[in-house]
Amino acid sequence: MSKRASVLFVCLGNICRSPTAEGVFRKLVEQAGLQEQIYIDSCGTSNWHIGKGPDPRSLEAAASRGIDISGLRARQFTEKDLDTFDYVVVMDRQNLADVKDIWHQNGGTRPTLFLEYGNTDLAEVPDPYFGGEDGFEQVLDLIEDAGEGLLRSIQERMV
Ligand code: 4NP
Repeated sequence: MSKRASVLFVCLGNICRSPTAEGVFRKLVEQAGLQEQIYIDSCGTSNWHIGKGPDPRSLEAAASRGIDISGLRARQFTEKDLDTFDYVVVMDRQNLADVKDIWHQNGGTRPTLFLEYGNTDLAEVPDPYFGGEDGFEQVLDLIEDAGEGLLRSIQERMV
């Protein structure tokens, strides 16, 4: 990977939160003019939705903020990701436990909770899959906030 930093967003299904995070963060990175420097991807800990596009509710919520994630396709997290990516950023504590199990065996990049980069008191991006439309708006709010913090953190390390 020839880019200077690489970021992997991880959730459970890779059809709601992490593709949203990928799309939002891609936009932030482009706005900062760093698209040639930062590689971005997302995946899920489960194999439930491999090959599928984002949930229609996530597509719509992202589109309402000018972000097109329709081209993304779900893939499953693999232990190799811990060797490939500089930042492995997970959405909730269950994702963290699942990825940490593999990290303990494999080593590599230590996974972190995405909202550690944000300004809210929440520790987790709540899973919106079984909830209503409001959940998808909240996911976007949390992701935009934490995404700005993550980008600042990466920029500080790149100088
Ligand atoms: P995500 O949301 O982890 O944010 O992609 C989910 C998507 C699908 C399921 C659960 C959460 N599911 O149970 O199929």
